[in-house]
Amino acid sequence: MPALLTWLAAWALLRVLSAGGLLPAWGAALGLGLVVALALRRASAWRRLIVAAGLPVAALLQSLAGWVSSRLIGAGGTLPAWAWLLPAALLLAAYPLRAWRDAPVFPTPALALRGLGALTALPAGASLLDAGCGLGQGMAALRTEFPSARIEGIEWSGLLRLATAARCPWASVRRGDMWRADWSRFALVYLFQRPESMARALAKAEAEMAPGAWLVSLAFAVPGRVPSAVLRPSGASPVWLYRVGAGALERLSACAGPQSGSAQVDNPHNKPARSGRH
Ligand SMILES: C[S@@+](CC[C@H](N)C(=O)[O-])C[C@H]1O[C@@H](n2cnc3c(N)ncnc32)[C@H](O)[C@@H]1O
Repeated sequence: MPALLTWLAAWALLRVLSAGGLLPAWGAALGLGLVVALALRRASAWRRLIVAAGLPVAALLQSLAGWVSSRLIGAGGTLPAWAWLLPAALLLAAYPLRAWRDAPVFPTPALALRGLGALTALPAGASLLDAGCGLGQGMAALRTEFPSARIEGIEWSGLLRLATAARCPWASVRRGDMWRADWSRFALVYLFQRPESMARALAKAEAEMAPGAWLVSLAFAVPGRVPSAVLRPSGASPVWLYRVGAGALERLSACAGPQSGSAQVDNPHNKPARSGRH
């Protein structure tokens, strides 16, 4: 919303200035100045970039549309207004509204889960779920760690599901809402969502998954809950592990053992959980 409001404010300013007869270059400079000033108020570098880039990207798209219409219709012609609905429809198909409430597409880096297989020591053929599997990078990282596991993904966006099913023929990918899916048959559910989803995810895991099963989250911890373990692969975000069921921490101590690769493992019984943002 802050990004949308900033872009709208900049376009409104441009309109007012051009109606007032100001040179387009001055109008653009003032609009850009407004956008940059508002972008600097955002907390993270990514958010500042997204807010600041909106106006230049929109201006670029507009001139691209001008170029396309001059090619299709001839000089001076303009595309009908409804043509703008096509990219909007594509965006909506890739990003149906409910998906925004949990997390937008943001891929798991290839080596982000390094050490997870050794730490969790799941039996061969165990079933794993990537809840909100996006374009499949999380499933690929799981496959590296658990080469003999049965990997499934569930994704709310039908378009992403299709692309991911084609990209990851070794996994079973279906369209659906991860919150409505049954997690009971999985030995491990992996999430890369957002801090606000984590308490709900752990409650669901504890209600549905078997004792000893794992809920694994990249980057985001469950607020106020001590994780069973934390993997800290060098140069990557922490991976938070929660083991379902009573006595889990004791069993974890027994299996944590020495770790592979450069991943560092914490068993932070008394450390407060930290969380972050995309
Ligand atoms: C941050 S991405 C993670 C993608 C993938 N798990 C990975 O790590 O590479 C989050 C994904 O969750 C999907 N998503 C969000 N809410 C969902 C829901 N309720 N049910 C299923 N998928 C959802 C989004 O569409 C998005 O593709």
